[in-house]
Amino acid sequence: MDAIKIFAPATIANVSCGFDVLGLCLDAVGDEMIISKTAEKGVKISKIVGQNLPLETENNVAGVAVLALLEKYGEVDCGFDIEIYKKIKPGSGIGSSAASSAGAVYGVNKLLGEPFTLSELIPFAMEGERLASGNAHADNVAPALLGGFTLVRSYDPLDVIKLHSPSELYATVIHPKIEIKTADSRAVLKDTVSLKQTVTQLGNLGGLISGLYSEDYNLIGRSLQDVIVEPLRSVLIPNFDKVKEFAKEAGALGGSISGSGPSIFALSKGKETAEKVAIAMAKAYENLDIEFDTYVSKLNPEGNKIID
Ligand code: HSE
Repeated sequence: MDAIKIFAPATIANVSCGFDVLGLCLDAVGDEMIISKTAEKGVKISKIVGQNLPLETENNVAGVAVLALLEKYGEVDCGFDIEIYKKIKPGSGIGSSAASSAGAVYGVNKLLGEPFTLSELIPFAMEGERLASGNAHADNVAPALLGGFTLVRSYDPLDVIKLHSPSELYATVIHPKIEIKTADSRAVLKDTVSLKQTVTQLGNLGGLISGLYSEDYNLIGRSLQDVIVEPLRSVLIPNFDKVKEFAKEAGALGGSISGSGPSIFALSKGKETAEKVAIAMAKAYENLDIEFDTYVSKLNPEGNKIID
């Protein structure tokens, strides 16, 4: 195999009470990438369509992720060319940098004959996140590589677990077209949390994970509460409370900020409800002078995939 075309999925990080640890993979939105072996050694980003992003390998998230992989792999007798067709807007909160980083290492690993497992690719893709936001978080790249819901049990040492995804769970996302940089969104966070907040958050995270395994949609809904990060970040997102309220009224189990925002997500049981939730979320934005997109997506159980 000398070339590969892949779908590099969007992801939702910080799934409510799971700041920096809980992520999920979407199916309905993602980038495309073509990765080819070249006679000339090195890693070249030859084309980026759809967004104005750096082509220099060391300044591109896909480039640095592949360089990290190759450093670990050792001597290779070819180079790699990467074309990126961006559909996910950077700064949207649905894992734009993660899609490129995870997609690139997934593709190069395939072309090398899969020397690394999907889990082993996570640290390489995290280098792309470090370049994008100054923080090598894994809650977008892990679901992009493993699919479904993933939990970062530990960062040091890195320990990522793929969780069970209930079959009828759908995500609805509204993306207001304002940019919130992850670095800025991290800057509003506090270094300390109270014991009371910690107890509430732990209960909800445990409840959410239990709800995923038992496919108890009511428990999932009760557990989708973030008392630590959402209150600090939601002020950056116009009409955040209204979107959440309208989504719940339309039948959503619950929701929160997608990644570091500005996108807001809601989870629902079934596609029909998720579609009603999209209409309700859009209604919460109708009187604002801000353009937005909405997406309804089932969970993507496999993450990156080869297309064509
Ligand atoms: N966990 C990361 C953060 C996700 O909130 O900074 C960024 O998409």
